[in-house]
Amino acid sequence: MTQTTMIPPEKLFAQVLDPTSRANPYPLYARLREKPISVQEDGTYVVSTYREISLLLHDPRISSDERKGTHPARTQTETAASATPAFIFTDPPEHTRLRRLLMHQFTPQRIADMQEYIEQTVNALLDARKQEKQLDVVQDFAYPLPVMVICRLLGVPPEDEPRFRGWSSALVRTLDPTESLSEAEIQQAMQSRTQLLEYMKQLSEARRARPQNDLFSALVAGDDPDGRLSDPDRLATMQLLLIAGHETTVNLITNSMLTLLRHPDVFDRLRRNPDLMIPAVEEVLRYEPPVQFRTRTTLTDIPIAGVTIPKGARVVLLLASGSRDPARFVDPDRFWPERDDNEHLGFGGGDHYCVGAPLARREVVPALKALTRRLQAPRLVTDPPPYRRNAALRGPEHLQIAFDHISD
Ligand code: HEM
Repeated sequence: MTQTTMIPPEKLFAQVLDPTSRANPYPLYARLREKPISVQEDGTYVVSTYREISLLLHDPRISSDERKGTHPARTQTETAASATPAFIFTDPPEHTRLRRLLMHQFTPQRIADMQEYIEQTVNALLDARKQEKQLDVVQDFAYPLPVMVICRLLGVPPEDEPRFRGWSSALVRTLDPTESLSEAEIQQAMQSRTQLLEYMKQLSEARRARPQNDLFSALVAGDDPDGRLSDPDRLATMQLLLIAGHETTVNLITNSMLTLLRHPDVFDRLRRNPDLMIPAVEEVLRYEPPVQFRTRTTLTDIPIAGVTIPKGARVVLLLASGSRDPARFVDPDRFWPERDDNEHLGFGGGDHYCVGAPLARREVVPALKALTRRLQAPRLVTDPPPYRRNAALRGPEHLQIAFDHISD
Protein backbone atom coordinates (compact mmCIF):
# COMPACT_ATOMS: atom_id res chain seq x y z
CA MET A 1 0.00 0.00 0.00
CA THR A 2 1.15 3.57 -0.65
CA GLN A 3 2.33 5.30 2.53
CA THR A 4 -1.01 6.33 4.03
CA THR A 5 0.21 9.74 5.21
CA MET A 6 1.19 10.71 1.65
CA ILE A 7 -2.33 10.36 0.25
CA PRO A 8 -4.29 13.62 -0.13
CA PRO A 9 -7.60 13.58 1.83
CA GLU A 10 -9.75 13.72 -1.31
CA LYS A 11 -8.15 10.53 -2.64
CA LEU A 12 -8.38 8.45 0.52
CA PHE A 13 -11.61 6.64 -0.33
CA ALA A 14 -10.32 5.71 -3.80
CA GLN A 15 -7.41 4.09 -1.97
CA VAL A 16 -9.86 2.24 0.31
CA LEU A 17 -11.49 0.79 -2.82
CA ASP A 18 -8.13 -0.24 -4.27
CA PRO A 19 -7.61 -4.00 -3.82
CA THR A 20 -4.11 -3.42 -2.41
CA SER A 21 -5.77 -1.92 0.69
CA ARG A 22 -8.09 -4.85 1.32
CA ALA A 23 -5.97 -6.71 3.90
CA ASN A 24 -5.75 -3.65 6.16
CA PRO A 25 -7.88 -0.59 5.38
CA TYR A 26 -7.80 0.64 8.99
CA PRO A 27 -4.89 3.14 8.69
CA LEU A 28 -6.85 4.77 5.85
CA TYR A 29 -9.93 4.99 8.05
CA ALA A 30 -7.82 6.62 10.78
CA ARG A 31 -6.71 9.25 8.24
CA LEU A 32 -10.32 9.79 7.11
CA ARG A 33 -11.42 10.31 10.75
CA GLU A 34 -9.19 13.39 10.98
CA LYS A 35 -12.33 15.06 9.57
CA PRO A 36 -15.77 13.50 10.31
CA ILE A 37 -16.91 14.17 6.75
CA SER A 38 -14.66 14.51 3.72
CA VAL A 39 -15.50 15.18 0.09
CA GLN A 40 -13.75 12.93 -2.36
CA GLU A 41 -12.55 13.73 -5.86
CA ASP A 42 -15.66 12.26 -7.47
CA GLY A 43 -18.01 14.28 -5.21
CA THR A 44 -18.78 11.42 -2.78
CA TYR A 45 -19.10 12.48 0.88
CA VAL A 46 -17.44 9.97 3.19
CA VAL A 47 -18.60 9.92 6.82
CA SER A 48 -16.04 8.22 9.05
CA THR A 49 -16.76 9.05 12.71
CA TYR A 50 -19.13 7.14 15.02
CA ARG A 51 -21.21 10.12 16.07
CA GLU A 52 -21.88 11.44 12.57
CA ILE A 53 -22.54 7.96 11.11
CA SER A 54 -25.07 7.27 13.89
CA LEU A 55 -26.78 10.63 13.32
CA LEU A 56 -27.12 9.98 9.59
CA LEU A 57 -28.31 6.38 10.03
CA HIS A 58 -31.27 7.86 11.92
CA ASP A 59 -31.83 10.90 9.67
CA PRO A 60 -34.95 10.84 7.44
CA ARG A 61 -33.30 13.37 5.11
CA ILE A 62 -30.99 10.67 3.83
CA SER A 63 -32.27 7.94 1.50
CA SER A 64 -31.50 4.29 0.75
CA ASP A 65 -33.39 4.55 -2.54
CA GLU A 66 -30.85 4.80 -5.33
CA ARG A 67 -33.53 5.95 -7.76
CA LYS A 68 -33.49 9.29 -5.91
CA GLY A 69 -29.80 9.96 -6.54
CA THR A 70 -28.19 11.86 -9.39
CA HIS A 71 -24.82 10.15 -9.21
CA PRO A 72 -23.80 7.66 -11.89
CA ALA A 73 -23.26 4.67 -9.58
CA ARG A 74 -26.99 4.00 -9.41
CA THR A 75 -27.53 2.29 -12.78
CA GLN A 76 -25.43 -0.81 -12.24
CA THR A 77 -27.05 -1.80 -8.95
CA GLU A 78 -30.49 -0.86 -10.04
CA THR A 79 -30.44 -2.81 -13.28
CA ALA A 80 -28.70 -5.83 -11.89
CA ALA A 81 -30.30 -5.97 -8.46
CA SER A 82 -33.98 -5.87 -9.21
CA ALA A 83 -36.72 -4.13 -11.18
CA THR A 84 -38.87 -4.18 -8.03
CA PRO A 85 -36.34 -2.88 -5.50
CA ALA A 86 -35.94 -4.98 -2.40
CA PHE A 87 -36.83 -3.07 0.78
CA ILE A 88 -33.16 -2.44 1.65
CA PHE A 89 -33.29 0.02 -1.28
CA THR A 90 -36.52 1.77 -0.21
CA ASP A 91 -37.50 4.54 2.23
CA PRO A 92 -40.44 4.93 4.62
CA PRO A 93 -43.37 4.57 4.33
CA GLU A 94 -42.82 1.85 1.68
CA HIS A 95 -39.85 0.44 3.62
CA THR A 96 -41.78 0.35 6.91
CA ARG A 97 -44.65 -1.61 5.37
CA LEU A 98 -42.51 -4.15 3.50
CA ARG A 99 -40.20 -4.73 6.46
CA ARG A 100 -43.11 -5.16 8.85
CA LEU A 101 -44.82 -7.72 6.60
CA LEU A 102 -41.63 -9.78 6.59
CA MET A 103 -40.97 -9.44 10.32
CA HIS A 104 -44.49 -10.64 11.13
CA GLN A 105 -43.39 -14.07 9.82
CA PHE A 106 -39.60 -13.99 10.35
CA THR A 107 -40.15 -14.45 14.08
CA PRO A 108 -37.69 -15.16 16.92
CA GLN A 109 -39.35 -18.57 17.32
CA ARG A 110 -38.78 -19.48 13.68
CA ILE A 111 -35.11 -18.57 14.12
CA ALA A 112 -34.78 -20.44 17.42
CA ASP A 113 -36.24 -23.52 15.71
CA MET A 114 -33.20 -23.55 13.38
CA GLN A 115 -30.77 -24.24 16.23
CA GLU A 116 -30.62 -28.01 15.96
CA TYR A 117 -30.30 -27.99 12.17
CA ILE A 118 -27.49 -25.42 12.38
CA GLU A 119 -25.52 -27.49 14.91
CA GLN A 120 -25.94 -30.66 12.85
CA THR A 121 -24.86 -28.89 9.65
CA VAL A 122 -21.79 -27.35 11.28
CA ASN A 123 -20.66 -30.73 12.61
CA ALA A 124 -21.40 -32.52 9.33
CA LEU A 125 -19.24 -30.00 7.44
CA LEU A 126 -16.34 -30.70 9.81
CA ASP A 127 -16.92 -34.47 9.81
CA ALA A 128 -16.53 -34.43 6.03
CA ARG A 129 -12.93 -33.17 6.49
CA LYS A 130 -11.91 -35.60 9.23
CA GLN A 131 -9.30 -37.37 7.12
CA GLU A 132 -7.52 -34.12 6.29
CA LYS A 133 -4.92 -31.94 7.98
CA GLN A 134 -5.81 -28.67 6.27
CA LEU A 135 -9.00 -26.92 5.25
CA ASP A 136 -10.09 -23.75 3.52
CA VAL A 137 -12.45 -22.15 6.03
CA VAL A 138 -14.18 -20.23 3.23
CA GLN A 139 -14.85 -22.95 0.65
CA ASP A 140 -15.10 -25.99 2.89
CA PHE A 141 -17.04 -24.53 5.78
CA ALA A 142 -18.24 -20.92 5.80
CA TYR A 143 -19.56 -20.73 2.23
CA PRO A 144 -21.97 -23.70 2.28
CA LEU A 145 -23.42 -23.02 5.74
CA PRO A 146 -25.55 -19.85 5.23
CA VAL A 147 -27.10 -21.14 2.00
CA MET A 148 -28.05 -24.42 3.66
CA VAL A 149 -29.56 -22.48 6.57
CA ILE A 150 -31.48 -19.98 4.45
CA CYS A 151 -32.77 -22.77 2.19
CA ARG A 152 -34.03 -24.66 5.22
CA LEU A 153 -35.65 -21.53 6.65
CA LEU A 154 -37.36 -20.57 3.41
CA GLY A 155 -38.33 -24.15 2.58
CA VAL A 156 -36.14 -24.74 -0.48
CA PRO A 157 -35.67 -28.51 -0.92
CA PRO A 158 -32.07 -29.67 -0.22
CA GLU A 159 -31.61 -30.99 -3.77
CA ASP A 160 -32.07 -27.45 -5.14
CA GLU A 161 -29.43 -25.90 -2.85
CA PRO A 162 -26.52 -26.08 -5.32
CA ARG A 163 -28.47 -24.01 -7.85
CA PHE A 164 -29.37 -21.53 -5.13
CA ARG A 165 -25.74 -21.19 -4.18
CA GLY A 166 -24.72 -20.34 -7.75
CA TRP A 167 -27.41 -17.67 -8.12
CA SER A 168 -26.54 -16.16 -4.77
CA SER A 169 -22.83 -15.76 -5.57
CA ALA A 170 -23.60 -14.09 -8.89
CA LEU A 171 -26.07 -11.68 -7.32
CA VAL A 172 -24.35 -10.73 -4.10
CA ARG A 173 -21.85 -8.41 -5.73
CA THR A 174 -24.59 -6.25 -7.19
CA LEU A 175 -25.27 -5.10 -3.61
CA ASP A 176 -22.05 -3.08 -3.73
CA PRO A 177 -22.62 0.06 -5.82
CA THR A 178 -18.94 0.98 -5.73
CA GLU A 179 -17.77 -2.18 -7.40
CA SER A 180 -17.38 -1.87 -11.16
CA LEU A 181 -18.68 -5.07 -12.66
CA SER A 182 -17.70 -6.07 -16.18
CA GLU A 183 -20.39 -6.37 -18.85
CA ALA A 184 -20.12 -10.17 -18.62
CA GLU A 185 -20.56 -10.11 -14.81
CA ILE A 186 -23.62 -7.86 -15.09
CA GLN A 187 -25.08 -10.24 -17.69
CA GLN A 188 -24.43 -13.19 -15.42
CA ALA A 189 -26.08 -11.44 -12.47
CA MET A 190 -29.13 -10.59 -14.60
CA GLN A 191 -29.39 -14.17 -15.78
CA SER A 192 -29.09 -15.50 -12.23
CA ARG A 193 -31.75 -13.11 -11.09
CA THR A 194 -34.16 -14.25 -13.80
CA GLN A 195 -33.54 -17.90 -12.96
CA LEU A 196 -33.90 -17.32 -9.24
CA LEU A 197 -37.15 -15.39 -9.69
CA GLU A 198 -38.51 -18.10 -11.97
CA TYR A 199 -37.60 -20.74 -9.40
CA MET A 200 -39.21 -18.76 -6.59
CA LYS A 201 -42.40 -18.30 -8.61
CA GLN A 202 -42.68 -22.06 -9.00
CA LEU A 203 -41.99 -22.57 -5.30
CA SER A 204 -44.70 -19.99 -4.47
CA GLU A 205 -47.22 -21.92 -6.52
CA ALA A 206 -46.22 -25.19 -4.87
CA ARG A 207 -46.53 -23.69 -1.38
CA ARG A 208 -49.81 -21.98 -2.18
CA ALA A 209 -51.22 -25.35 -3.24
CA ARG A 210 -49.69 -27.30 -0.32
CA PRO A 211 -48.47 -25.09 2.54
CA GLN A 212 -45.60 -26.39 4.69
CA ASN A 213 -44.13 -25.18 7.96
CA ASP A 214 -41.64 -22.78 6.35
CA LEU A 215 -41.18 -19.04 5.84
CA PHE A 216 -42.07 -19.22 2.18
CA SER A 217 -45.47 -20.79 2.89
CA ALA A 218 -46.10 -18.27 5.69
CA LEU A 219 -45.41 -15.33 3.37
CA VAL A 220 -47.51 -16.76 0.55
CA ALA A 221 -50.42 -17.28 2.95
CA GLY A 222 -49.82 -13.85 4.56
CA ASP A 223 -52.12 -13.76 7.60
CA ASP A 224 -50.87 -10.28 8.55
CA PRO A 225 -53.64 -7.84 9.53
CA ASP A 226 -51.89 -5.20 7.38
CA GLY A 227 -52.35 -7.31 4.26
CA ARG A 228 -50.04 -9.45 2.22
CA LEU A 229 -46.86 -8.90 0.24
CA SER A 230 -47.67 -8.60 -3.46
CA ASP A 231 -46.09 -11.30 -5.64
CA PRO A 232 -43.24 -9.04 -6.93
CA ASP A 233 -42.55 -7.68 -3.42
CA ARG A 234 -42.45 -11.16 -1.94
CA LEU A 235 -40.03 -12.37 -4.59
CA ALA A 236 -37.80 -9.31 -4.10
CA THR A 237 -37.85 -9.89 -0.33
CA MET A 238 -36.91 -13.57 -0.64
CA GLN A 239 -34.11 -12.68 -3.00
CA LEU A 240 -32.89 -10.03 -0.55
CA LEU A 241 -32.84 -12.50 2.36
CA LEU A 242 -30.75 -14.85 0.29
CA ILE A 243 -28.15 -12.39 -0.92
CA ALA A 244 -27.96 -10.07 2.11
CA GLY A 245 -27.45 -13.01 4.44
CA HIS A 246 -24.98 -15.02 2.42
CA GLU A 247 -21.60 -13.40 1.92
CA THR A 248 -22.00 -11.36 5.11
CA THR A 249 -22.26 -14.53 7.19
CA VAL A 250 -19.41 -16.20 5.28
CA ASN A 251 -17.23 -13.19 6.04
CA LEU A 252 -18.20 -13.07 9.69
CA ILE A 253 -17.18 -16.71 10.19
CA THR A 254 -13.96 -16.25 8.22
CA ASN A 255 -13.00 -12.89 9.72
CA SER A 256 -13.63 -14.36 13.17
CA MET A 257 -11.43 -17.39 12.59
CA LEU A 258 -8.66 -15.23 11.16
CA THR A 259 -8.85 -12.82 14.10
CA LEU A 260 -8.91 -15.62 16.69
CA LEU A 261 -5.90 -17.33 15.17
CA ARG A 262 -4.05 -14.00 15.23
CA HIS A 263 -4.85 -13.76 18.95
CA PRO A 264 -3.83 -17.11 20.47
CA ASP A 265 -4.43 -15.84 24.03
CA VAL A 266 -8.09 -15.17 23.20
CA PHE A 267 -8.30 -18.49 21.35
CA ASP A 268 -7.15 -20.30 24.49
CA ARG A 269 -9.61 -18.43 26.68
CA LEU A 270 -12.42 -19.42 24.29
CA ARG A 271 -11.48 -23.09 24.40
CA ARG A 272 -11.62 -22.99 28.17
CA ASN A 273 -14.79 -20.88 28.27
CA PRO A 274 -16.98 -21.36 25.14
CA ASP A 275 -19.59 -18.91 26.50
CA LEU A 276 -17.10 -16.15 25.74
CA MET A 277 -17.88 -16.81 22.06
CA ILE A 278 -21.01 -14.63 22.22
CA PRO A 279 -19.12 -11.40 23.09
CA ALA A 280 -16.19 -12.51 20.89
CA VAL A 281 -18.44 -12.54 17.82
CA GLU A 282 -19.76 -9.08 18.75
CA GLU A 283 -16.17 -7.91 19.02
CA VAL A 284 -15.40 -9.24 15.51
CA LEU A 285 -18.45 -7.33 14.26
CA ARG A 286 -16.76 -4.20 15.64
CA TYR A 287 -13.14 -5.00 14.86
CA GLU A 288 -13.34 -6.80 11.46
CA PRO A 289 -16.93 -6.28 10.28
CA PRO A 290 -18.20 -8.04 7.13
CA VAL A 291 -20.04 -4.87 6.02
CA GLN A 292 -17.50 -2.06 5.92
CA PHE A 293 -19.75 0.66 4.49
CA ARG A 294 -23.18 1.44 3.05
CA THR A 295 -24.13 4.17 0.60
CA ARG A 296 -26.99 6.64 0.79
CA THR A 297 -28.32 9.69 -1.10
CA THR A 298 -29.24 13.04 0.46
CA LEU A 299 -32.82 14.21 -0.17
CA THR A 300 -32.02 17.79 0.84
CA ASP A 301 -28.99 19.84 1.94
CA ILE A 302 -27.77 18.46 5.29
CA PRO A 303 -25.52 20.63 7.48
CA ILE A 304 -23.45 18.38 9.74
CA ALA A 305 -20.08 18.65 11.51
CA GLY A 306 -19.28 22.00 9.87
CA VAL A 307 -20.01 20.75 6.32
CA THR A 308 -23.15 20.99 4.21
CA ILE A 309 -23.77 17.82 2.24
CA PRO A 310 -25.74 19.01 -0.80
CA LYS A 311 -29.02 17.49 -1.97
CA GLY A 312 -28.55 14.52 -4.31
CA ALA A 313 -25.03 13.71 -3.09
CA ARG A 314 -23.76 10.19 -2.71
CA VAL A 315 -22.84 9.55 0.92
CA VAL A 316 -20.71 6.68 2.14
CA LEU A 317 -21.34 5.71 5.77
CA LEU A 318 -18.05 4.07 6.74
CA LEU A 319 -19.45 1.79 9.46
CA ALA A 320 -16.14 -0.05 9.99
CA SER A 321 -14.39 3.24 10.67
CA GLY A 322 -17.07 4.35 13.14
CA SER A 323 -16.60 1.10 15.04
CA ARG A 324 -12.87 1.92 15.39
CA ASP A 325 -13.43 5.54 16.45
CA PRO A 326 -11.30 6.32 19.55
CA ALA A 327 -13.83 9.02 20.50
CA ARG A 328 -16.36 6.22 21.05
CA PHE A 329 -14.42 3.06 22.01
CA VAL A 330 -11.66 2.51 24.54
CA ASP A 331 -8.52 1.22 22.81
CA PRO A 332 -10.41 0.66 19.51
CA ASP A 333 -7.60 -1.12 17.66
CA ARG A 334 -7.39 -3.81 20.32
CA PHE A 335 -9.35 -7.04 19.81
CA TRP A 336 -10.86 -7.42 23.24
CA PRO A 337 -13.97 -9.64 23.59
CA GLU A 338 -14.34 -8.75 27.29
CA ARG A 339 -14.89 -5.01 26.58
CA ASP A 340 -18.11 -4.01 28.31
CA ASP A 341 -19.25 -1.21 26.04
CA ASN A 342 -19.57 -2.55 22.50
CA GLU A 343 -22.37 -0.83 20.63
CA HIS A 344 -20.73 -1.47 17.26
CA LEU A 345 -22.11 -0.57 13.84
CA GLY A 346 -21.61 -4.07 12.38
CA PHE A 347 -25.33 -4.55 11.73
CA GLY A 348 -25.94 -0.90 10.81
CA GLY A 349 -28.46 1.18 12.77
CA GLY A 350 -31.77 3.03 12.48
CA ASP A 351 -34.60 1.93 10.17
CA HIS A 352 -32.43 -0.41 8.11
CA TYR A 353 -30.80 -2.24 11.04
CA CYS A 354 -30.10 -5.79 9.88
CA VAL A 355 -33.19 -8.00 10.05
CA GLY A 356 -30.96 -11.08 9.91
CA ALA A 357 -28.84 -10.22 12.98
CA PRO A 358 -30.51 -12.80 15.28
CA LEU A 359 -30.14 -15.53 12.65
CA ALA A 360 -26.53 -14.55 11.89
CA ARG A 361 -25.63 -14.79 15.58
CA ARG A 362 -27.34 -18.17 15.86
CA GLU A 363 -25.27 -19.44 12.92
CA VAL A 364 -21.91 -17.92 13.64
CA VAL A 365 -21.62 -18.64 17.37
CA PRO A 366 -22.11 -22.45 17.01
CA ALA A 367 -19.93 -22.48 13.88
CA LEU A 368 -17.03 -20.91 15.77
CA LYS A 369 -17.59 -22.96 18.88
CA ALA A 370 -17.27 -26.10 16.74
CA LEU A 371 -14.18 -24.81 14.91
CA THR A 372 -12.36 -23.81 18.11
CA ARG A 373 -13.30 -27.00 19.95
CA ARG A 374 -12.76 -29.57 17.20
CA LEU A 375 -9.69 -28.32 15.28
CA GLN A 376 -6.61 -29.44 17.21
CA ALA A 377 -3.61 -27.09 17.12
CA PRO A 378 -4.99 -24.95 14.26
CA ARG A 379 -2.66 -22.45 12.57
CA LEU A 380 -2.87 -20.05 9.63
CA VAL A 381 -1.11 -21.21 6.48
CA THR A 382 -0.94 -17.71 4.92
CA ASP A 383 -1.22 -14.41 6.75
CA PRO A 384 -2.63 -12.14 5.41
CA PRO A 385 -4.85 -14.40 3.32
CA PRO A 386 -5.94 -13.41 -0.20
CA TYR A 387 -8.99 -11.12 -0.08
CA ARG A 388 -12.05 -10.78 -2.30
CA ARG A 389 -12.18 -7.67 -4.49
CA ASN A 390 -15.29 -6.27 -2.81
CA ALA A 391 -14.43 -3.39 -0.46
CA ALA A 392 -17.92 -3.03 1.05
CA LEU A 393 -18.49 -6.72 1.85
CA ARG A 394 -14.94 -7.41 2.94
CA GLY A 395 -13.49 -10.82 3.68
CA PRO A 396 -10.87 -13.37 2.59
CA GLU A 397 -11.34 -15.29 -0.63
CA HIS A 398 -9.64 -18.30 0.97
CA LEU A 399 -8.50 -19.00 4.50
CA GLN A 400 -6.25 -22.05 4.64
CA ILE A 401 -5.81 -23.53 8.10
CA ALA A 402 -3.52 -26.42 9.01
CA PHE A 403 -4.19 -28.58 12.11
CA ASP A 404 -3.12 -31.86 13.69
CA HIS A 405 -6.55 -33.47 13.47
CA ILE A 406 -10.28 -32.84 13.83
CA SER A 407 -11.67 -34.31 17.04
CA ASP A 408 -15.23 -35.66 17.50
C1 HEM B 1 -22.94 -11.56 9.84
C2 HEM B 1 -23.86 -11.40 9.06
C3 HEM B 1 -24.50 -10.11 8.69
C4 HEM B 1 -24.05 -8.82 8.72
C5 HEM B 1 -22.68 -8.33 9.18
C6 HEM B 1 -25.11 -7.98 8.21
C7 HEM B 1 -25.05 -6.61 8.13
C8 HEM B 1 -26.08 -5.80 7.72
C9 HEM B 1 -26.03 -4.36 7.69
C10 HEM B 1 -24.84 -3.49 8.07
C11 HEM B 1 -27.25 -3.93 7.27
C12 HEM B 1 -27.69 -2.46 7.13
C13 HEM B 1 -27.80 -2.05 5.70
C14 HEM B 1 -28.10 -0.58 5.51
O1 HEM B 1 -28.16 0.17 6.49
O2 HEM B 1 -28.23 -0.17 4.36
C15 HEM B 1 -28.06 -5.09 7.00
C16 HEM B 1 -29.35 -5.06 6.53
C17 HEM B 1 -30.03 -6.19 6.19
N1 HEM B 1 -29.67 -7.49 6.42
FE1 HEM B 1 -27.97 -8.14 7.27
N2 HEM B 1 -26.17 -8.77 7.89
C18 HEM B 1 -25.85 -10.08 8.18
C19 HEM B 1 -26.64 -11.20 8.05
C20 HEM B 1 -27.90 -11.18 7.53
C21 HEM B 1 -28.73 -12.35 7.38
C22 HEM B 1 -28.37 -13.77 7.81
C23 HEM B 1 -29.87 -11.92 6.75
C24 HEM B 1 -31.09 -12.67 6.34
C25 HEM B 1 -31.36 -13.89 6.52
C26 HEM B 1 -29.75 -10.49 6.55
C27 HEM B 1 -30.69 -9.70 5.97
C28 HEM B 1 -30.65 -8.32 5.93
C29 HEM B 1 -31.72 -7.51 5.36
C30 HEM B 1 -33.01 -8.03 4.71
C31 HEM B 1 -31.33 -6.18 5.52
C32 HEM B 1 -32.11 -4.93 5.10
C33 HEM B 1 -32.84 -4.34 6.27
C34 HEM B 1 -33.58 -3.09 5.89
O3 HEM B 1 -33.26 -2.45 4.89
O4 HEM B 1 -34.51 -2.74 6.63
N3 HEM B 1 -28.54 -10.08 7.04
N4 HEM B 1 -27.33 -6.22 7.31
